[in-house]
Amino acid sequence: MRVEIFLDTASVKEIREILPWGIISGVTTNQKIFLAEKGVNFRDRVFEVLSLVDGPLSLELTKTTGSDDDLIEEAREYSSWNPKKVVIKVPMFGDGRGLRIVNRLKRENIKTNMTCMMSTNQVLLAAKVGATYASIFFNRVKDSGVDPVRVIQESKRIIKESDFATRIIVGSIRNPEDVNEAALAGAHIVTIPYKILVQMPFHQKTE
Ligand code: E4P
Repeated sequence: MRVEIFLDTASVKEIREILPWGIISGVTTNQKIFLAEKGVNFRDRVFEVLSLVDGPLSLELTKTTGSDDDLIEEAREYSSWNPKKVVIKVPMFGDGRGLRIVNRLKRENIKTNMTCMMSTNQVLLAAKVGATYASIFFNRVKDSGVDPVRVIQESKRIIKESDFATRIIVGSIRNPEDVNEAALAGAHIVTIPYKILVQMPFHQKTE
């Protein structure tokens, strides 16, 4: 299967610059990424990105407390902006709440991206509940002392052998070499921040 590249950004400037390269097939965001876009209206920016990108756009739930219904309500609202393209990022909460939310969203045909994945156990559960995507955080796994390549390889093998439809996104990319490691380990998609992606075409000797 061909590895895909998503851009990990909420910046229209970055998207406009990279899109003509012809290598981007989707965009991922999170609260941290949106906070970096100082002063923008969230909804307006989402519509702007949707008009530019012909592919999935992951939007993370902002509510972390409250009832399941509160989170479902937020997910429904974002999804209604473009049910085909908008993917709801649901964290894999340690108490199983994330799984409950994805389970309900799945029954409403709302696309999901189970996020902040640190282990093969978590990816297995995300695939089992029917998440559209499962996001493994490459460098955060590494920071925790575990080899992210192993987590990606194991997750891919389980997904393949059980014939799950969930696609693995690898995020938390901090340098160009991480992209190769993630792709070689079996990521379906690598989501890359702009500042890393722009380094990838360059090689001193090529210049
Ligand atoms: C991926 O979907 C996330 O948005 C992102 O890659 C998280 O990475 P970080 O570890 O840089 O926050």
